[in-house]
Amino acid sequence: MTDVRIFEVGPRDGLQNEKGRIPTRDKIALIDLLSAAGFPAIEATSFVSPKWVPQLADADEVMNGIHREPGVSYAVLTPNMKGFERAVAAGASEVAVFASASEAFSLKNINCTIAESIARFAPLIEAASAADLPVRGYVSCAVECPYSGPVDPGAAREVAVALHEMGCYEISLADTIGRATPEATRAMLQSVIASVPPDRLAGHFHDTGGTALRNVAVALELGLRSFDSAVGGLGGCPYAPGAKGNLSTGALLDVLDGMGVATGIDRDRLALAEEHVAGLAAATREEAER
Ligand code: HMG
Ligand code: MG
Repeated sequence: MTDVRIFEVGPRDGLQNEKGRIPTRDKIALIDLLSAAGFPAIEATSFVSPKWVPQLADADEVMNGIHREPGVSYAVLTPNMKGFERAVAAGASEVAVFASASEAFSLKNINCTIAESIARFAPLIEAASAADLPVRGYVSCAVECPYSGPVDPGAAREVAVALHEMGCYEISLADTIGRATPEATRAMLQSVIASVPPDRLAGHFHDTGGTALRNVAVALELGLRSFDSAVGGLGGCPYAPGAKGNLSTGALLDVLDGMGVATGIDRDRLALAEEHVAGLAAATREEAER
């Protein structure tokens, strides 16, 4: 029985942002190590346009190569029907659509307005429901936008409500550039919780400003029990300048363990995945220096 669900996003949110080329076999090995550590859900890759995110152009091979542990949900990002069809063919356990609370970021990241993105997701969510595939929804820039600055909490609520009403089983509220203060995070969460219950929400905090763990504490206090994090603090978004790593899974786990909160994650096995990530980082640094 777990108290908090840790949704491991490193293989997707982490590796999408690496400058050097990571061999497909290393991505597969990382996901297999994470599976063995007991994560209930692992975001494995994205079925986005390979022109937009070349780092994840090997999504099909990754999904084909992983060892699937029973009870683990292998999630992938799907921005449109083409991505959804690829995800189904690759045997994804669940898919995620990603919208933004900021118009500027929506245009930069998925080349359409917020309203257009919601309209684009409708048939995808319907098709997923027909195929019995759960859909998760993201709200990027729920607090801060790299292009337009602070985001109104009402804007985050509006997008979260739309995704909730369309059938997303959980809405992950993202501090995309890791600049949200705990106060601003609280204001955003209170606004969203007025319309969507906290047990349908997750926190996705990048850690650029070092506030991610404090933002988790605020979210826990307000009733959220699902958090995204990345092994080794990998991460960022290629379309969000300044977005550094995600909240590190190890740091999150240590804090939750200290509070006596059960997550079901094996710390020693997570350490093996952390070592693997450190090796990948060293290899890509060497490649970049050559
Ligand atoms: P577009 O250029 O407007 O798309 O991009 P299009 O429909 O006009 O298609 C253009 C070309 O892409 C066509 O190929 C399509 O077939 C192809 P062409 O005819 O030129 O050869 N295409 C695809 N190929 C493979 N898979 C697909 C796909 N779709 C189109 N699914 C699009 C629109 C949404 C596709 C593009 O903008 C895109 O892929 N964006 C994704 C960007 C991204 O992945 N960003 C990072 C993830 S989000 C994130 O990190 C935030 C998050 O962590 C939360 C947070 O922290 O905020 C989730
Ligand atoms: Mg992210």
